[in-house]
Formats: sequence, structure tokens, C-alpha cells
Amino acid sequence: MKNKFIAVCNTYLNGNEKKYLLDCIDTGWISSAGKYVKDFERKFAKYCDSNYAISVTSGTTALHIALTVLGIRKGDEVIIPSFTMIACAFAVCYTGAKPVFVDVDKNTWTIDVNKIEEKITSKTKAIMPVHIFGNPCDMSKIIKIAKKYKLHVIEDCAEAHGATYKNKKVGSFSSISAFSFFANKNLTTGEGGMVVTNNENYYNKLKYYRNMCYPLDKPRTYEHFDIGFNYRMTNLQAAIGLAQTEKADYYKNLRIKNHELYKTYLKDLQGIIFQKDQKKSVNVAWMNVILVDEKKYGKTKDQLVEYLKQNGVDTRFLFTGMHKQKCLKDFKCDMSDKYPVTDMLTEKGFYLPSSSNLKKTEIRYICNLIKRFKDI
Ligand SMILES: Cc1ncc(COP(=O)(O)O)c(C=O)c1O
Repeated sequence: MKNKFIAVCNTYLNGNEKKYLLDCIDTGWISSAGKYVKDFERKFAKYCDSNYAISVTSGTTALHIALTVLGIRKGDEVIIPSFTMIACAFAVCYTGAKPVFVDVDKNTWTIDVNKIEEKITSKTKAIMPVHIFGNPCDMSKIIKIAKKYKLHVIEDCAEAHGATYKNKKVGSFSSISAFSFFANKNLTTGEGGMVVTNNENYYNKLKYYRNMCYPLDKPRTYEHFDIGFNYRMTNLQAAIGLAQTEKADYYKNLRIKNHELYKTYLKDLQGIIFQKDQKKSVNVAWMNVILVDEKKYGKTKDQLVEYLKQNGVDTRFLFTGMHKQKCLKDFKCDMSDKYPVTDMLTEKGFYLPSSSNLKKTEIRYICNLIKRFKDI
């Protein structure tokens, strides 16, 4: 295995992707007007136990269009976890609203539901929980808080296709939910996203805003009454997405199995910490993340990452907290509050290789390196 390079994440296109793509090329339907867009949306909505799914260009634009349709705008506040991908904050900023941060739980790494209420003000309009690394948030508590304060919930399911909380699919708890199909996600279209809802009114508005606010049910006069977006997914992307969704549970189970293998092989190793699954949920293990407790492991995260690199194992650092993002200062975000769990995750954590089609021998090789390095 010496000269081998194990990437942090490869795509795995194992079904009808090629067949459907060739069909797009053979028929010439490569824009957003082709049949795969509708077929993908229908199939994905069903997969999410939701009534409607609307494809868009990315997870970021999915979040943005969801916020827009829910009427979030300048002067409003949206609660997001301080530990998340920057797209959550950006999407809120695009609307002119202010992202407000809440630290994450030290075990599940999802938004700390006990700290949400202290951040709610008269300007708060929505909560955006993020099912981080595939681990569902405590949706019962979040929905309870949202009801109490009359807030919208916009689930960010970018990393959690097929995950469940109390036997319900993530994405089906909220006003509108957002998914990403970037190349490293459990299901991919290369680049792409999806918005999911059970509400027909939101569904129609999502279609309207996605397509430049052309009227949905009248002839086009090229007069526009709202500011819309071109967030349309192409038939080519949807062809891949449909093929991926046909095998969604297969891909999901591969990731879960790999995660179990990592946890088994590293089980007795002092100083290596994994994310704890949310209770009554299925974590779909988008990424295999470990934290390095320097005192117990005897080496720093950086030393371990370097050792893995020398041995052909690719890794990635975790997100920097939202409260440390200089680009958000202009939005008058609270950069002075303390977010200790987020800081701890950034400092101690990193991703191990996580492709769906990772081999058992590769996982064993990586874990043996981690074990051996402790004793060097
Ligand atoms: C939690 C989260 N939200 C949103 C996004 C944005 O998705 P995209 O990269 O498709 O814009 C990502 C992407 O990795 C993500 O991890």
C-alpha cells in the first residue's frame, strides 16, 4: 500500500449514470428543460418522505432560495450553528438578514438546543439546524422552540441524505429543507442542490423564484414583478442525480458500514474521539471525523495529519467557526461571544478518507497507521 494515495473522498457512480447521460446527449436535452429534472425531483421527494422537491444549482442556492421564499430579508435574524460550512451564513447574508450563532453540542456536534432560546430576539425569523456530517439534530426540541416563538425551520441536510430522526427522514421536519449534491456528498450530481417541502404554496414559489420569476401559469410577457434567480439544474446533472437516487440506500449503507469499521478498528485507542450519534436517529456518516486529544494520544492533530500524508492518506481540516469569519463582520454578527465546542472541534478534528467505495483493507491500513503513530 506504500505508493497508494487514498483520497479523502472520491465520487462513486455505480448505477445508471452513464446510460442516462448518454440519453441526454443522444436526444439533445441538456438544459434544464429535460425529463430527468422532473424524474429526479419526483424520486428525491419520495426518498425524503416529502411531497415536493425542486432541484437547484447547489446546496448554497438551495438555502438561499428557501430563505427568500420564507420572506427572510434585511432586518431579520436567522439562527445558525457556529460550527458549520460557511454556505449557511452566506445564504442568510444574501437575503440581507443577520446570521446569529449558537454553539454546538460537545457530543453530537449539532446545534446545542439548550442554547437556542437565549439567542432569540424580536427580529428572529428562522432557525437553520445543520445535520452535521450526517448526524441528525435534535429535531423534537428545535420544532418545539420554533412553535413557541413562531419561527420557520430550514433544515440544512447538505450532508445528510437519507438520515432519520425518530424514524422520520431529515428534510421532512421543516418549512423548507436544503440538500447539496456536490461531488463529495453521499449522493452527487457533481454540483447541484435540492429544496424539499410539504407545502404546495412554498413549492410554487420555489419554482417561481428558481426560474427568474417568470409567471408559472400565464404566457410569458417578459415582464417581471419580483427579483428572481436562475438556479435551474441541467438535465445532465439531473440524469446523474436520478441514477444516484435509485441506489440511495446502497450508497448510504456503504458510508455507514465504513464508519462502523473505523470505529471498530480504533475503539480501544486512547485519545481518538468520534462524533456521538444523536439519540433515536440514523447518522449517515457523510465524513469520518476524528478528534485528537493530544494529552491522551501523545501527538498533536497536525503531527498525525502529516504522518498520514507521508503514508499516502489524504485528510482535511474541519470548519473554522462562524464567529471567526472576518467576512461576516459587516453583517454586525456577534463575533465576541464564546463558542468553546466549535473552537475545540476546529482545533482537534479532521476528516479521514470517506468515499462510499473505500475498501475494508484501506480502512484497516489507515487505522493501523493511526495506532502505530501513537507508539512511535
Ligand atoms: C452543511 C453544508 N451546508 C451547505 C453546503 C453548501 O453546498 P454546496 O457546496 O452544494 O453549495 C455544504 C457543502 O458542503 C455543507 O456542508
